[in-house]
Amino acid sequence: MTQDPNARSEIEPTEVGANAAETGERELHDDHDVTADHEVLHEGLDFATVAGMGHVASELDPDAPPVLTIDNLKMYFPVKSAGVVRRTIGHVQAVDGISFEVPKGGSLGLVGESGCGKSTTGRLITRLYKPTGGSMMFDGHDLAKLSSREMKPLRRDVQMIFQDPYTSLNPRHTVGTIVGAPLEVHNIVPKNQVLKRVQELLEVVGLNPEHYNRYPNEFSGGQRQRIGIARALTLNPKVLVADEPVSALDVSIQAQVVNLLQDIQNEFDVAFLFIAHDLAIVRHFCPEIAVMYLGKIVEIGDRETIYGRPHHPYTQALLSAVPDVKQAAIGGRRERIRLEGDVPSPINPPSGCRFRTRCQFAQEICAKVEPPLLQIGSRHKVACHFAGELGAHPATPVTTDLLGVDDQGTPVPGATPTNTQLTIPGYEKTWYDLTTKQTAGA
Ligand SMILES: Nc1ncnc2c1ncn2[C@@H]1O[C@H](COP(=O)(O)OP(=O)(O)OP(=O)(O)O)[C@@H](O)[C@H]1O
Ligand code: SF4
Ligand SMILES: [Mg+2]
Repeated sequence: MTQDPNARSEIEPTEVGANAAETGERELHDDHDVTADHEVLHEGLDFATVAGMGHVASELDPDAPPVLTIDNLKMYFPVKSAGVVRRTIGHVQAVDGISFEVPKGGSLGLVGESGCGKSTTGRLITRLYKPTGGSMMFDGHDLAKLSSREMKPLRRDVQMIFQDPYTSLNPRHTVGTIVGAPLEVHNIVPKNQVLKRVQELLEVVGLNPEHYNRYPNEFSGGQRQRIGIARALTLNPKVLVADEPVSALDVSIQAQVVNLLQDIQNEFDVAFLFIAHDLAIVRHFCPEIAVMYLGKIVEIGDRETIYGRPHHPYTQALLSAVPDVKQAAIGGRRERIRLEGDVPSPINPPSGCRFRTRCQFAQEICAKVEPPLLQIGSRHKVACHFAGELGAHPATPVTTDLLGVDDQGTPVPGATPTNTQLTIPGYEKTWYDLTTKQTAGA
């Protein structure tokens, strides 16, 4: 699909909207009942079942070039003292040196517990926040370094879909104004063609184009999220950051909205950073997943690896709580892995590995040395000194030679650290084989 905004009208809106109809949520074309999306149609079924009725899971294209390259990205929010003279007394290390790539037309899932930095990452990419450090390369520009004025022409390329369809739409504006405003601000089409384009977009997302003059409160939750999606699509973006786009919706509506996002991805060749708590939804939508903990990426890889053979104790614990994936993820065992204690404060995170205060495998080295995000497979990286499948975590750290330290994490005099993969955003053709402790791959 071309990215030329003027080519939008070439899109046959019903191609995408029709799938919403198949799955049952397409808005009723009854003037008296716009909110009656068919929320009871799939009652009682789980997400995977309902989503599978419409679409197969998204596929990975390993040859897709990156559309967005995030390198060592940081966001530290200052913490101020109370009183008249408010001094900075610390920083919330919300995002602390994360690196990844979002492939063109692909989707990377970002998962992790509340407060680990997912939304902050999304807000950095859309430049709602200016990063403390790092780079965000998009189309030859480093979004991290641009001024607000320099960002303006690029804002249309990186758009956001918000979590809450109730608060993210201005209740005093009609749907036509909400969806059409970006077209006018960015002068995308002549004024007399805005309505036509808005109606096309409403049809693309499975809404009745005649309802452009209605207000958000006349629509149901699923329909409002469709309006939010239409708004995000208005400027023909290349990257969409979807921050928990369906978590406020009923499970049957979730599947329909996710299916719509898949259609849109295929039709418009748009890449997604897909942020979600729900690991079943992420598995369906994202062929590649990054797991965050306390501002860091602790594991990243393709779907089959992350859900079938996770190597980080945190990923293993997260997955053990998901009924339909836990058996594969935790070596066929049935019980849930319970994480002890609370997530530590990002103002003063633990030394070494940030997960160590809750990790059942933690040893001395974990407090002394931060584990590098090490590539251990063709599309798999993990940050753990004792990386291994559940039940097969090694007894001695796998990272000592790479870091030039002994098993307790003490630097070995004269040792030369050999790890060179600390901050590379994508994947190398070669990787570190945990079994042989040698370089493997092509
Ligand atoms: N504007 C801000 N000022 C100060 N601290 C912030 C700000 N925004 C986020 N934080 C802090 O940064 C950390 C990461 O927050 P963030 O919202 O990115 O987490 P999240 O992973 O999206 O969580 P959730 O799953 O609950 O949405 C949290 O400790 C949060 O309190
Ligand atoms: S580095 Fe140590 S504390 Fe961190 S996850 Fe691995 S074993 Fe646990
Ligand atoms: Mg969030």
